[in-house]
Amino acid sequence: MNVMKDFPMLNKDIIYLDNGATTFKPQCVIDAMSDYYSNYCANAHRGDYDISLKVDMAYEGTRDKVQKFINAKHREEIIFTSGATESLNLIVNGFFDNVMEAGDEILISDSEHASNVLPWFRLAQNRGAVIKYVQLDESFHVTLEAVKRSITPKTKVIALAEITNVVGDIRPIKEITDFAHKNNIFVVVDGAQSVPHKKCDVQDSDVDFLAFSAHKMCGPTGVGVLYGKRELLESVIPVNFGGGMNESFDSEKEVFLKELPTRLEAGTPNIAGVIGLGAAIEYLEQVGMDNIFYHEISLKKYLVEGLSRIPFIDIINDECDSGILAFNVDGIFAQDVAIYLNKYNVCVRAGNHCAKILKKSVGVRNTVRVSLYFYNTKEEIDTLIDLLSDRDKIMKEMI
Ligand code: ALA
Repeated sequence: MNVMKDFPMLNKDIIYLDNGATTFKPQCVIDAMSDYYSNYCANAHRGDYDISLKVDMAYEGTRDKVQKFINAKHREEIIFTSGATESLNLIVNGFFDNVMEAGDEILISDSEHASNVLPWFRLAQNRGAVIKYVQLDESFHVTLEAVKRSITPKTKVIALAEITNVVGDIRPIKEITDFAHKNNIFVVVDGAQSVPHKKCDVQDSDVDFLAFSAHKMCGPTGVGVLYGKRELLESVIPVNFGGGMNESFDSEKEVFLKELPTRLEAGTPNIAGVIGLGAAIEYLEQVGMDNIFYHEISLKKYLVEGLSRIPFIDIINDECDSGILAFNVDGIFAQDVAIYLNKYNVCVRAGNHCAKILKKSVGVRNTVRVSLYFYNTKEEIDTLIDLLSDRDKIMKEMI
């Protein structure tokens, strides 16, 4: 895909293969944010003057864009947060904290990111709920059958990433949701690694809640989205109380809150960030979500073919169908491989990637992770494969 001209960071002699951590930003996103700060910098939902009205239009305009992007039924189902982490914490503490009873079960998996584990751990501790893990198959997938085996009459919620951040398996969310709803179980999806990479349709998948971050989809850091079905969001008790979200209050502590979505967006939001997210969505739609997905899949296939030819490379997840590949070089610590690649301006992530329980299933604690995006090229993959082909060179140069 010829998008180099759109991204200042793609013209810096860097091979960036850490898109699971964050993505580069196209100039249009940078410009949209700078335009706000330079030309109509005012607060949202508060002013009676022209530039404030312009802010409202841009801010609420992004809500419309997100609604369309994930095909939500109502615009008030889109809540702006600081990122997927805050979205998940909001839903755990503002919704599930009110419905969870002692003995209820929360079903997650070994390969979840910390953001989709730790809030549930805390809730389980506070409410006497039980955390259960769906068993991964031998290629680290979560199958519908495994989910069926894991649920009991006590299961209250299934919380899974659609694509995980280390092994990159894609979960059959629609099928899982269909089954869950037949059994009165809520479904929460961590979309941080999926919404940026493949078409998302929350009406089709019927998930109850979805969390994702702008910065992993060409947008700015510090902004994310919580999607929730309107009837469920209506019963969320805000975690943050303050300005912007209340209609009125008095000295007798009588408080009237606003309607959705502002009720769940207390305080001055990250206005520039939300505007940047709107520009990012427009950009991604121009590139085309299907084009993005298929480009990544074909690049990943090419990468797997290349690395498979190197006898001392152990690929962990070649059977997982997303643009994420985890591997190790025999006898060399993952972080040392990353440091060696960095000498050639190749950026990869090494470590446990915030998925600290996964080592139980994968059998290794640390891996090197390549995570692709639509702007990566075959030439970049060739360079990576070339650099990894000579073990002696890695050993010699890694420190
Ligand atoms: N969650 C991000 C990653 O997987 C930071 O790298």
